[in-house]
Amino acid sequence: MIKVGIVGGTGYTGVELLRLLARHPEVEVDAITSRSEAGLGVAELYPNLRGHYDELRFSEPDPERLARCDAVFFATPHGVAHALAGDLLERGTRVIDLSADFRLRDAGVWADWYGQPHGAPGLLEEAVYGLPEVSRDQIRQARLIAVPGCYPTAVQLGFLPLLEAGLIDADHLIADCKSGVTGAGRGAKVPSLLAEASESMKAYGASGHRHLPEIRQGLGDAAGGEVGLTFVPHLTPMIRGIHATLYGRLTGEPGDLQRLFEDRFANEPFVDVMPAGSHPETRSVKGANLCRIAVHRPGNSDTVVVLAVIDNLVKGASGQAIHALNLMFGFDETAGLDAPAMMP
Ligand SMILES: NC(=O)c1ccc[n+]([C@@H]2O[C@H](COP(=O)([O-])OP(=O)(O)OC[C@H]3O[C@@H](n4cnc5c(N)ncnc54)[C@H](OP(=O)(O)O)[C@@H]3O)[C@@H](O)[C@H]2O)c1
Repeated sequence: MIKVGIVGGTGYTGVELLRLLARHPEVEVDAITSRSEAGLGVAELYPNLRGHYDELRFSEPDPERLARCDAVFFATPHGVAHALAGDLLERGTRVIDLSADFRLRDAGVWADWYGQPHGAPGLLEEAVYGLPEVSRDQIRQARLIAVPGCYPTAVQLGFLPLLEAGLIDADHLIADCKSGVTGAGRGAKVPSLLAEASESMKAYGASGHRHLPEIRQGLGDAAGGEVGLTFVPHLTPMIRGIHATLYGRLTGEPGDLQRLFEDRFANEPFVDVMPAGSHPETRSVKGANLCRIAVHRPGNSDTVVVLAVIDNLVKGASGQAIHALNLMFGFDETAGLDAPAMMP
């Protein structure tokens, strides 16, 4: 049994960590922080957790207490892990960061997109980008994990087989993506109000979203060189879920695309390649650590269309973070993550 801490326990990814870890056989949550709710019992804020964490209370982030944990999750806005991760690592506590703090290898690119200097450039070299379908072996050895963003997870998993096989034009990739409102976090914001977000849909960040450099970096690794990507995210009136519709231009006769995807993910517990002709639904992954994928070639043309769905809070954040923890500590990869999705 290991002890873990969670910094940012009142947010949506924080409470999702708690929900998933409640069923984890090897993990005890020892510390959970919130500056605004310090002193409150966890189940008082989140009654779905009554009976699971009855003794656990939110506390102020205290580096001493966190350093007594074997691992600490950061479920916080960008910049917070920059300030605390180095100290924890020095004291032997491993760090799994759900924010964007360590996802980009280049501190200058990070500073351009986040509008502030990178707070811990010295840690970038050892940070491992935590997409298990690409970096399983490095994650096993890592002390510091940058958990991929939600859009980047869906887009990378969908494009990977095609780029790795060199089957599409890497200069002209298109990712048309939709997200539910929990993607914006729990903080009160006007665009997340019921009357603003329901019965409507809109694009945002069409000229440049912060996930763009992260997706380009990952796809570039898969393609073996820089890629050209148009990425347009949309806000949709659902609570959880990401739907990515991905377009690639085939450069030649690709062979059996269905087989390509099935082979690429054959040994992946958290990627489901659906039967040919399928249209995955976001609700089919709700609450589950799973990416469901379908590949199409409309009219046998030179355009391949990949449909990928995830739950932004699970495979897009907290579930993927626990998958990394399982690899780092040598647990069964699926520990705490094997529950099926909720439907309807
Ligand atoms: N929501 C998603 O679907 C999703 C998916 C992938 C990745 N992420 C990333 O995961 C991180 C957390 O997202 P979220 O949606 O869970 O956010 P959230 O709902 O806004 O929650 C943020 C949490 O961080 C705490 N916090 C804020 N500022 C802090 C500070 N300076 N020091 C310590 N704690 C602080 C907050 O509690 P107090 O203010 O009370 O301390 C709160 O518990 C973000 O970086 C986000 O980009 C989110």
